[in-house]
Amino acid sequence: MTRHATKYIGILTSGGDCPGLNAAIRGVGKAAQGIFGMQVIGFRDGFRGLMENRTAPLGLDNLSGILTVGGTILGTSRDKPRRMLVGGKEIDVSETIIANYQKHHLDALVCIGGGGTQKNALYLKEKGLNVITLPKTIDNDVAMTDVSFGYHTALGIATEAIDRLHSTAHSHYRIVVVEIMGHRAGWLALGAGIAGGADVILLPEIPYDVEKVAEAIRQRSRAGKHFSVVAVAEGAMSARDAAHFRAADESKQEARTKLERKKAKNALQEFQTRHAGNTLRLAKQLEGLTGLESRVTILGYVQRGGSPSAVDRLLATRLGTACADLISEGVYGVMVAARGEKTEPVPLEKVAGKRKTVPLDHAWITSARLVGTSLGD
Ligand code: F6P
Repeated sequence: MTRHATKYIGILTSGGDCPGLNAAIRGVGKAAQGIFGMQVIGFRDGFRGLMENRTAPLGLDNLSGILTVGGTILGTSRDKPRRMLVGGKEIDVSETIIANYQKHHLDALVCIGGGGTQKNALYLKEKGLNVITLPKTIDNDVAMTDVSFGYHTALGIATEAIDRLHSTAHSHYRIVVVEIMGHRAGWLALGAGIAGGADVILLPEIPYDVEKVAEAIRQRSRAGKHFSVVAVAEGAMSARDAAHFRAADESKQEARTKLERKKAKNALQEFQTRHAGNTLRLAKQLEGLTGLESRVTILGYVQRGGSPSAVDRLLATRLGTACADLISEGVYGVMVAARGEKTEPVPLEKVAGKRKTVPLDHAWITSARLVGTSLGD
């Protein structure tokens, strides 16, 4: 395919931050300018900065030294083009975004983000913009890519935390319950739970029975191991709560009228607010059912912070440079997916609105069971 005249491309990062975002920005920007002779401009704070036309220079000098830096030099937000809070009202700002895209004579817009960003990018593609996305998230739940960058670094952080919690658990003969991020997918808790040697791993994909968790811990006590480490994904639920959640989620999907949608949304919000305390409640329940003291650690945003791992720097650079290459060939409307050691452009229609959760027959789940880890079921 012939390579075209100078192209102007915009880059933004959107959604939760994660390690590797700057490595990706650098990968796109260095290849685009250094190899393909393109002009590159950044937009601050996700789609909001594009709407407010707030830009950031991304010349080769600005890209120097950011490979190892955590977070994103562009800033990010969870604002959506279809429904953005402006002047106290949620409005569709896509017309303003299109106007700014044209004002900068952009040939393409690179959106680096997780599941929500893929959906927002598809919306702008449907509005006629040339968009191309890169998958990032510590949750590893973006569909149609082997892995997202940010995951590997968070996996290392959560595993190290579990390693450290082991020493205090067995020194005090306690149950240590550690809550791990991941939103509604269990990749981070499962990976770190196995790598850290957790005795129990609870995932959103496998609703748990607290009595079975307690029995696994009591079994360890009977075997003389008077401590246990329980790795809980933030989205994990008991079987009873999972049934409630499914019902609330279904009524939201099935709601027809504005009033029904509002009621369903409130019910779901109420459920999620109550669920926020789930890990603390679980620890208390286990204390009661086992007679062992319990302590809770919620890892939180530590998992999203700091310098990216070598694996994430490599992945983000690979995806970023492949993105610039695709733009030079005029390929748009796709996500740059990781596929083994290669990359592959996947139409956004195949990615948006889908969530990659842990399949119940996944090899990691089998391995966890084979080393005697309880999954609470
Ligand atoms: O998607 C990344 C993530 O860190 C999830 O693991 C977590 O549920 C969520 O973002 C937290 O969102 P926020 O940054 O808006 O608090």
